[in-house]
Amino acid sequence: MKTNTVQPPEVSPIVVKDLTVGYGERIILQNLNFEIKKGQIVTLLGGSGCGKSTLLKHIIGLYPPMQGEILIQGRSIVTANETEKREIMSCFGVAYQGGALFRALSVAENIALPMEEMGHFTKDEIKERVEQKLALMHLEGFGNFMPSDLSGGMIKRVAFARALALDPALLFFDEPSAGLDPLTSDMLDDVILEIREKTGATIVMVTHELPSIFKVSDRVLMLSRDEKSIVDDGSPQWLRDHSEIPFVRAFLSRNKNN
Ligand SMILES: Nc1ncnc2c1ncn2[C@@H]1O[C@H](COP(=O)(O)OP(=O)(O)OP(=O)(O)O)[C@@H](O)[C@H]1O
Ligand SMILES: [Mg+2]
Repeated sequence: MKTNTVQPPEVSPIVVKDLTVGYGERIILQNLNFEIKKGQIVTLLGGSGCGKSTLLKHIIGLYPPMQGEILIQGRSIVTANETEKREIMSCFGVAYQGGALFRALSVAENIALPMEEMGHFTKDEIKERVEQKLALMHLEGFGNFMPSDLSGGMIKRVAFARALALDPALLFFDEPSAGLDPLTSDMLDDVILEIREKTGATIVMVTHELPSIFKVSDRVLMLSRDEKSIVDDGSPQWLRDHSEIPFVRAFLSRNKNN
């Protein structure tokens, strides 16, 4: 029997169309159009206040856009009702800038939370997965600690472990390695690459750490506060060496004379 080798084109997990985002009347970024392919690791880059966190928060459905469409695995997160939104968001893992752990919950309870919310894991399964994520983040033995007893770097690693709790198809990290020592930061980069390799996850992150960007990112979307837009799009190496915009080359080489 002849098998049909023609595959249907795969839907990109993230599609952004004519997107304008902002707060109240104030536009932060406008008319954005881009697609992120499955398994891509994309960094949102740009100066402080250009709207990296804003864009990330809109993609994950925390805020409604002023205009435009955001499709997650083919489904609109913009027009979704609350139930649909929860469904769409159940394939997300998110680590926010600053960690955002629940202060009243232990490390293990924080990591368990997304699994508790899903409601279909047994207590033993949750315990096992919490241990597994703690080990992945080199945090064995810290499950019973409270967030207030952890260093800044450890809080970030717990936030990371929580984001990974459900082995999500889409991962979003806002400055995962800011303020971490270089070795911990490098460890996080290895974890990111390992996750992508093992699970094929699509990863969108915000970071200023050049070593991380060059080590893990397939692609950089460069945002500009002045233009309120994405001004360049390509691999970090290519943008550093060939971008037509001096500010982009400078940003990726830390050399303002570039
Ligand atoms: N909830 C909010 N309400 C109103 N304005 C906001 C809100 N959050 C962010 N902004 C404004 O939107 C602009 C973009 O902020 P955003 O946090 O997205 O920048 P960023 O690129 O992530 O910066 P950084 O690199 O410093 O984290 C800033 O001027 C900020 O003050
Ligand atoms: Mg930010």
